[in-house]
Amino acid sequence: MNEIDLFSMDKEQAKRQIESLTEELNHHNYLYYQKSKPEISDYEFDTRLKELEKLESDFPEFKLPHSPTSRVGGDITKDFETVAHKYPMLSLGNTYSKEELVDFDGRVKKGLGTDDYEYICELKFDGVAISLKYENGILDRGITRGDGTKGDDITTNVKTIRSIPLKIRGEKYPASFEVRGEVFMSKDQFIKLNESVEKENEIREAEGKSPVTLYANARNTTSGTLKMQDSGIVASRKLDCYLYSYLDDANTFETHEESLHFLEKSGFNVSQTYRKCTTIDEVLAYINQWDQERHKLSVETDGIVIKVNSIAHQSELGFTAKNPRWAISYKFKAESALTRLNDITYQVGRTGAITPVAELEPVLLAGTTVKRASLHNANEIERLDVRIGDSVNVEKGGEIIPKITSVDLTSRSAGTQKVEYISRCPECDTELIRKEGEAQHYCPNQESCPPQVLGRIEHFISRNALNIESLGPRTIKGFLNKGLIHNAAGLYSLKFEDINDLQFEETDEETGEVTKRSIKEKSAKNIIESIEKSKEIPFERVLFGLGIRYVGKTVAEKLAQHFVTIDRLISASFDEIVQVHEIGDRIAESVVSFFENKDNIQMIDALKDAGLSLRVVQSEHADDSFKGITFVVSGVFESFGRDELKNLIKQHGGKVASSISSKTNYLVAGSNMGPAKKEKADSLGITILDESSFRELLEND
Ligand code: IVH
Repeated sequence: MNEIDLFSMDKEQAKRQIESLTEELNHHNYLYYQKSKPEISDYEFDTRLKELEKLESDFPEFKLPHSPTSRVGGDITKDFETVAHKYPMLSLGNTYSKEELVDFDGRVKKGLGTDDYEYICELKFDGVAISLKYENGILDRGITRGDGTKGDDITTNVKTIRSIPLKIRGEKYPASFEVRGEVFMSKDQFIKLNESVEKENEIREAEGKSPVTLYANARNTTSGTLKMQDSGIVASRKLDCYLYSYLDDANTFETHEESLHFLEKSGFNVSQTYRKCTTIDEVLAYINQWDQERHKLSVETDGIVIKVNSIAHQSELGFTAKNPRWAISYKFKAESALTRLNDITYQVGRTGAITPVAELEPVLLAGTTVKRASLHNANEIERLDVRIGDSVNVEKGGEIIPKITSVDLTSRSAGTQKVEYISRCPECDTELIRKEGEAQHYCPNQESCPPQVLGRIEHFISRNALNIESLGPRTIKGFLNKGLIHNAAGLYSLKFEDINDLQFEETDEETGEVTKRSIKEKSAKNIIESIEKSKEIPFERVLFGLGIRYVGKTVAEKLAQHFVTIDRLISASFDEIVQVHEIGDRIAESVVSFFENKDNIQMIDALKDAGLSLRVVQSEHADDSFKGITFVVSGVFESFGRDELKNLIKQHGGKVASSISSKTNYLVAGSNMGPAKKEKADSLGITILDESSFRELLEND
């Protein structure tokens, strides 16, 4: 049936058609993803999938749990349910040394009392562990490792992974079993994802928006992706999965190898890199082979896993508190390359922190060309005793930014000199400072050191702060260079005429190339409009935007709730600030010192004059829902400070009384509330709200 004629299709027919399309499409999915031997075109596949989707939406009662339509994603999960693992998800003991592997083999031999045993060696895939539960051949649940005893149910997201069978192939399989494996993003897919971010950034830059950061590594990206609420995005990330463990109550298989064969023939993706070894020398040969060849694989690997093959032997050896005694992992040493240190440059961050950067002779490392590496701070340079002209070992862990791990002293030429760490800022020539106990040098010239000024403005306009989307770092740099602004407050004095057709030059930091740019009329209009619009941003985000050290989004919210106005916060003492729920000494010190700076106060005055919100006003969510309701607040709360809670009540139009009377409607009770209060409330028939009921009332009203 090609065309679906719903009018003539009876229920029985629809059911049959749904069943047959489900089987057929799952089979084609298997041929495509597991066998790499598709038998139908993508177009045909998609057409049939759409046909199935339509039928399922018209006859939802017949949709099967293993329907291939769930691969497309689209379902949203707000909170993943935490579920207990039937079999704990243990980790492996690991080693970097071949000697320790020989020791491990010795322990196995001793434990079993024989040398008649085998190992299965596998690659250790660097991804995210997953446990899959199959009931009657159908994928029932996909659970993350979590703490090993319980994890998150991420079935909806797992179903989007095409190489995970939704239904077991073949007729013979145990009624209930679990498989474990590693979800990963292939190297190619990870590069593609970052390329798409780079493309997006080009567009953002052209529109004057700040860039989005690249994904750091495939493993973390996989982990983040699996926890996404929108399974549609998960599906688009094209994750993959290798399975390497089988578990059931019946011990169906006698060896690990047999269980791998079962998984292969049941449609699971088992990496064909495993090998049976009968001696530790064979294991070592396997390691040597894959240490070389692993870079050719599409998946990141960070070692190998050695498992005793016989399940009876595994049970005999058992477990320590944390790890099985029948398996161990050997970790590959991070890949390194030898190259020349040509120079050390210094970067100045938004807070004035100086980071030394190694400028290297370009070298190929784990598939990419490396030109720069971080040297972190002066101590690190000292520790390595690295000198310009030295041959250095560069390593790349899972991260994008490589690091220098050692210097090849044998090849050091005569006459090299110890690096003299800079004492003045490379950007503004101010003398650097280094606080007691801190590794980093700082440039104290907050007011006029260009990267600090630029960095602070970038932070001010960023999404979580003032969200001035039409501005980007290049344009701000242009404004600063032209002397149009000196700080973030300066943005509010800009007029359309100031920036329309503004011409400025831009220098590429890497190449030194100079490009001319100009602001077109339309962009100029957008910029002025979005600056104007930012005046509506609530106080807590403006406070966050000021870029006070250690004052992140949540801290800014707490401070705003507590002090209500910027003036009260400015005049607050250290002691008053530490009294705010969850605010410690380090933050309080930083806030006090920020407001001691005259320039900061001047900027705040300018922001006030420009009409920004510098006090908590009834936010969009605040309303009069508590109008006419009187609360008494007592005790200590977990997620609110007491004043914060009182302010929330007031913001919603409620009244806060200090003692319980017949006029009280609610007693909001935290922990440590005295028994007398509770008694009184009970005797007057007053409703007592605990913290979560209060939150509910707040959110539902
Ligand atoms: S077997 C009882 N095999 O490494 C141990 N693990 O620390 C069962 N991993 O959490 C694990 N590749 O996420 C096993 N071929 C492989 C593996 C592997 C990667 C991960 C897994 C586990 C961790 C062990």
